[in-house]
Amino acid sequence: NGSASKAGKSRNILEKMQETGKNCVVFYGSQTGTAEDYASRIAKEGSSRFGLKTMTADLEEYDYENLDQFPDDCLAVFVLATYGEGEPTDNAVEFYEFIGGEDVSFSEKGGADGEPLGSMKYVAFGLGNNTYEHYNSMVRNVTKYLDRLGAKRIGEAGEGDDGAGTMEEDFLAWKEPMWTALADAMNLEEREAIYEPVFEVTEKPEMSAEDDTVYLGEPNKNHLEGASKGPYNAHNPYIAPITESTEIFQDKERNCLHLEVDISESNLSYTTGDHIAVWPTNSGREVDRFLRIINMQDKKDTVITVKGLDATAKVPFPSPTTYEAAVRYHMEIGAPVSRQMVDSLAQFAPNEDIKNEMSRIGKDKDLFAEKVSSKRFNIAQFLESFGQKWDKIPFSFFIEGIHKLQPRYYSISSSSLAQKKKIAITAVVTSEASEGSDHVVKGVTTNYLLALKEKQHGAANPDPHGLEYALTGPRNKYDGIHVPVHVRHSNFKLPSDPAKPIIMVGPGSGVAPFRGFVQERAEQKKKGENVGKTILFFGCRKEKEDFIYREQWEQWGEDLGDSFELITAFSRDGVNKVYVQHRLKEKAEEVNKLLEQKAYFYVCGDAANMARDVSDVLCGIISEKRGVSKQKGEEIVKGMRAANQYQEDVWS
Ligand code: 2AM
Repeated sequence: NGSASKAGKSRNILEKMQETGKNCVVFYGSQTGTAEDYASRIAKEGSSRFGLKTMTADLEEYDYENLDQFPDDCLAVFVLATYGEGEPTDNAVEFYEFIGGEDVSFSEKGGADGEPLGSMKYVAFGLGNNTYEHYNSMVRNVTKYLDRLGAKRIGEAGEGDDGAGTMEEDFLAWKEPMWTALADAMNLEEREAIYEPVFEVTEKPEMSAEDDTVYLGEPNKNHLEGASKGPYNAHNPYIAPITESTEIFQDKERNCLHLEVDISESNLSYTTGDHIAVWPTNSGREVDRFLRIINMQDKKDTVITVKGLDATAKVPFPSPTTYEAAVRYHMEIGAPVSRQMVDSLAQFAPNEDIKNEMSRIGKDKDLFAEKVSSKRFNIAQFLESFGQKWDKIPFSFFIEGIHKLQPRYYSISSSSLAQKKKIAITAVVTSEASEGSDHVVKGVTTNYLLALKEKQHGAANPDPHGLEYALTGPRNKYDGIHVPVHVRHSNFKLPSDPAKPIIMVGPGSGVAPFRGFVQERAEQKKKGENVGKTILFFGCRKEKEDFIYREQWEQWGEDLGDSFELITAFSRDGVNKVYVQHRLKEKAEEVNKLLEQKAYFYVCGDAANMARDVSDVLCGIISEKRGVSKQKGEEIVKGMRAANQYQEDVWS
C-alpha cells in the first residue's frame, strides 16, 4: 500500500504541500547528509530572499505517482547525490527506478501540453565526485528522465564536485543564475533577505539536566528509554562494546588504532569487505570553544525545548535537551566554515566594522580563501579571530545552518569467516597542523576513537574535558567502553571461488579491508579449501614506523604457504619515493599473467591520487605486456571494472 507509511504519515506530497501552504518542495537524495544540507539551504534562501513557501522532502518519504498533477504555480527542486559507482543514494532508489522506468505510470492522467509532467517546473543540483567514473550520473539521468516526461527545467542543472574539493564553490556559482532564471519564470520579486528562525528554542529553567526525560546525547529515543532494539542502521546505532583497542604504529608522533567491537549481543551481521559506521561525538575542547565564543558557556546545562515553527520543520534531535548535548552530538562544529555561512553570520556581528568585514569575506571568493579556508578555521575558530563575543546569534540559526554530525564509515579490517561476531577497525588518527595559524585540525571521529582507547587503557581524562557523554556519563547503562555503530553492506567482495587468484593494492589504512581478505583466505586454507594466489601490495612511510600488521602477515603467510606474497613500498626510507604502483610495475609480468587467468584486482585507499595512479599503471602494464595500444589497455581495464574483476573501495 503506497498511500501511507507505517507511521500513518501521508505519502502524498501534493496533499502535504496544500495542507501546509507550500508552493516549493525541495526533494533530496542524500546518503551522508550533505545533499540534505544543500536542500535545506535552497529552501531557506528561497523563502528568505524570494518569499517562496518552501519545504524539504526526503525522497523516500513520498510517492511519485501523482507528480503529473504537480500545480504549475509551484516549483520542485531536486538535490541529488550520486553514490559509489553511479548509484542512487539509498533513499532515492525507488524514485530513480520510478522516474527512469520505461513506461512511467502516473495515477491520473494529469500533465499539460500533452506531456505527463508538462505542468511541473523544476530546478536540479547534483553532488558528485569526479574521481569516479559515473560523475554526477544521478542528476544527469534524472534531468534526462524529467525532460523526457515534459517537465520544464528552469536554468541549468548544477553539478558540484567533491573530488576536486569545489562542492561549495560549485554550488554558489550555480545558484545565483538559477535564482535569476527562477525569479523570471515564476515572477518572483527579490527582497532584502530577513532571517526567520525555523525553530523555536525555549529555555526551561524549571527543569534540570538530571531529569530522566532530558536527552543528553543517547544515540536515539530507544536508548533514552533504555530499550534499544534492532534493526540497527543509519537511523539507529548499536552500542557495541569495544573488546580490543591497540596502538599499531611504532612511530610515536602519529597514531593508528586497531579496534575490535563485539556484535554478538546484537542481530548485526557483516561479511568481509563491508563497512562499519562509527557515530562520533565532538571533542570537549571544541564544544567549549563553540559555547564560549557565542557566550553560552554558563548555559551549557540549561534545559531547552526545540520546536519547529512550521509543520514541515523536523527537529534534528530529541527535545527537551541541553545546549551542550545539541552541540556535542548533533552539530558538525569541527568542519571548515563555509563562505555562505560567513556571509550569513554577518548580520549577527558584534559591531558594524566586523559586520562589514564579514560581508566582504563572505562575498569574495579569493578573500575567503586567504582569510578563512587556507587557515582551515572551523566556525568557532573563525569567530574567535575577531576577538569579541558573538552573543546575538539565535540558537535556531545553528540548528539550521551547521551540518548534522554524521556517522563515519570505515572499511572493516576483519574476516567474517574467521570472526563472525567481532568487527575490526583500522583507523589512522588525523591531526594536521594548519599553516598560518597555531591550531591543529583534528579528525573528529578518529580522535574520539583515540580518546575511547585511552580511557579504556585507564587514562583518567583523555579528552581535555572528560568523555562525559551519555555512554560513560551518569546515564551509562553499560559496563566498559562502548561505541555506537552500524554496518553498511558493500560490493567490495572476494571472488566466491577461493581458488581464483587475487591482487590487492592498499597503501596506508587502505590496507584495512585486505587484512580481512587475507585473514579470510588463511581461514579457507585451514578449512582445507584450495586457495589461489594472494598478492598484497602495501605501502607506508617507513618500515620501522607505520608498517602495520607485520606479525599477522607473517602468521597468515605461514597458513597460506607459497600462495601468499606481500610486496612492500616504503616511501620515506630511501632517497626516492617508492609507492605501491612502482612495485606493481616491477611485477608487471606476473600481474598480467594473473589477470589473464582472471585474477581479481582490488584497490583501497585515497581516491584522488593513489587509486588513479594505480589504475594508470595497470593500463600501461596491460598494453605493454599484451602488445596493444595504450587506448586498448584502458578499454581492457574498463571492461574489468564493468565485470567486477577490478574493484575499488576508495575515499577522498
Ligand atoms: P608519502 O606520504 O611518503 O608521499 C600511505 O599513506 C603511503 O602512501 C605513504 O607511504 C605515502 O607516501 C603513499 N602515497 C602518497 N601518495 C601516493 C600516491 N599517489 N600513490 C601511491 N602511494 C602514495
